[in-house]
Amino acid sequence: MNVQLIPATEEHLPQLTALEQICFPSDPWSESVYRAALDNPAAAILLAQGEDGGLLGCAVLSTVLDEGSLDNIAVAPHARRQGIADALLSALTGFGREHLTCLMLEVRASNAPAIALYEKHGFAAVGRRKNYYDAPKEDAILMTLSFL
Ligand SMILES: CC(C)(COP(=O)(O)OP(=O)(O)OC[C@H]1O[C@@H](n2cnc3c(N)ncnc32)[C@H](O)[C@@H]1OP(=O)(O)O)[C@@H](O)C(=O)NCCC(=O)NCCS
Repeated sequence: MNVQLIPATEEHLPQLTALEQICFPSDPWSESVYRAALDNPAAAILLAQGEDGGLLGCAVLSTVLDEGSLDNIAVAPHARRQGIADALLSALTGFGREHLTCLMLEVRASNAPAIALYEKHGFAAVGRRKNYYDAPKEDAILMTLSFL
């Protein structure tokens, strides 16, 4: 699929919240959470846009000093299994390799597609946070990718 990776701006907020509701129906990020990420100079939202301008995927990175956190990644259901998450994550790990010492993330223990994606990009499980998620309650697997 032909996609373009671009940084998000204020004008993408409605599309981002719509994508979020489709991808995380039980606990979607609200528009204000995305707005806070846009306003945070230490965060970046990367979008995957289709040829028609439609939003196909997004990934959110935030940093504290030299450590990065992958706070979100999602691809629209109709666009999955076509390498869009691969492209988004490759861009973020490329940035990380140049500017950060590590990337961290949390993922639902049952989210096999996401865990496979992260392992493919070199992340390793380093811990478990008991009952970290609500709706439904579930453990988080903590994963990291070191650039050192
Ligand atoms: C996880 C998600 C982002 C993957 O997006 P995608 O664009 O379909 O992924 P890609 O096509 O780029 O696949 C990249 C790799 O991810 C893994 N993967 C993706 N979907 C998978 C699936 N259904 N089953 C197993 N592995 C999968 C594979 O390792 C794949 O590499 P491969 O094609 O060489 O096998 C997508 O399924 C999604 O948006 N899920 C809902 C939101 C979510 O759970 N986000 C993660 C929150 S922590």
